Amino acid sequence: MNVIIVNDYAELSSTAGRMIAGLLHSKPACTLGLATGSTPLGTYQYLVQRYQAGEISLREAQTFNLDEYCGLPRSHPQSYYHFMYQNLFRHVDIRPDNIHIPCTEGDDLQTQCDSYNALLHATPLDLQLLGIGSNGHIGFCEPGTPFDQETFHTRLSESTRQDNQRFFASLDEVPTTAITMGISNILQARSILLIASGKGKAQCIADMIKGPISEQMPASALRLHADVTVIVDRDAAALL
Ligand code: F6R
Repeated sequence: MNVIIVNDYAELSSTAGRMIAGLLHSKPACTLGLATGSTPLGTYQYLVQRYQAGEISLREAQTFNLDEYCGLPRSHPQSYYHFMYQNLFRHVDIRPDNIHIPCTEGDDLQTQCDSYNALLHATPLDLQLLGIGSNGHIGFCEPGTPFDQETFHTRLSESTRQDNQRFFASLDEVPTTAITMGISNILQARSILLIASGKGKAQCIADMIKGPISEQMPASALRLHADVTVIVDRDAAALL
């Protein structure tokens, strides 16, 4: 793992954003795996600014999001579909057909998982952007997820629901399940970029980098991959 420690969230966002912009320059038709949550917001803002300055284009790029809550329609303000349009897609020139987000609408979630998984197999990712949960999850692969897991319908742990309660009016409103890429899908990306910010991530970052490689710490699976960059700010690096 290549671990880069930066001063603060602003530097984290511009460093991660520069890496993605660099890929868009060198390979305009690249395939990008994207994450939601608080951490990538600054990275997306950086990309939007570079786009508005005429310095990058997503016209040829394809994107594949990690996960989506079940039980929220795509129009819900907390759906990851909505998040991505609000924070990135509506501000840049990506073609709607090139945007891929797991679909959790309808009754047949297994078919939705299978079709997203087939899409991922057909389209290897050049770069997968990841955040990390305070319990070490990547995507919504919670502790205990097998490393060979592919796209699946997962139950969110209570700690994840509590962490994400800040986006909802109450804990009861936080979805209980999601469709997520599996750890196996994530490890198939050619390169991986994980970003983490703040003291609340210090323990999971230390466990990911220095602890045992274990299904109890899903992010530790990234140590099995040859091309992983981790960008952390000083607070998230405090226990390294
Ligand atoms: C989001 C995702 C999650 C988040 C993680 C950290 O698509 O897959 O793994 O990256 O929960 O979330 P934040 O950035 O809000 O701390």
